[in-house]
Amino acid sequence: MVISAETRARIDAAIAKYPKKRGALLPALHLVQEQTGWITPEAARELATIFDLHPIQVMEVVSFYNMFYDRPQGRHHVHVCTNLSCSLRGSRELLRQLEQHLGIEAGETTKDGRVTLGREECLGACAWAPVLRVDETYHENLDVDAAKRLVDGLE
Ligand code: FES
Repeated sequence: MVISAETRARIDAAIAKYPKKRGALLPALHLVQEQTGWITPEAARELATIFDLHPIQVMEVVSFYNMFYDRPQGRHHVHVCTNLSCSLRGSRELLRQLEQHLGIEAGETTKDGRVTLGREECLGACAWAPVLRVDETYHENLDVDAAKRLVDGLE
């Protein structure tokens, strides 16, 4: 069993809040990811059993939302917004430069497990474009050099 007894108890408590069990799948995915760091195939199978679903149905939800991960993640998430306002202010080039700087493409993790690079669809801070998110912190009005310095400073 991948899902711990404590996490399972929290999932059961979430299920009790919804008229239909399936309504608690998103909270359950958050709980499992909080425990394991990503949604492993084993965790998806266990969740499918709990929610009377097929594992592929669980993974469909995981792949739809960018806050759920279907593979191991780095210690830090660096996500560049590539929506319209940020793109007009150079975020696509900023992302390309970070890909080169880190030697990975968006969606990948550095070999040392330090950074997972990704892209976002509007962080709701368009007035300060281009915007980049490091874990839960927004960094705004960045140029390429500032973004590289920021990434280099992550432990
Ligand atoms: Fe980047 Fe909105 S388009 S924050």
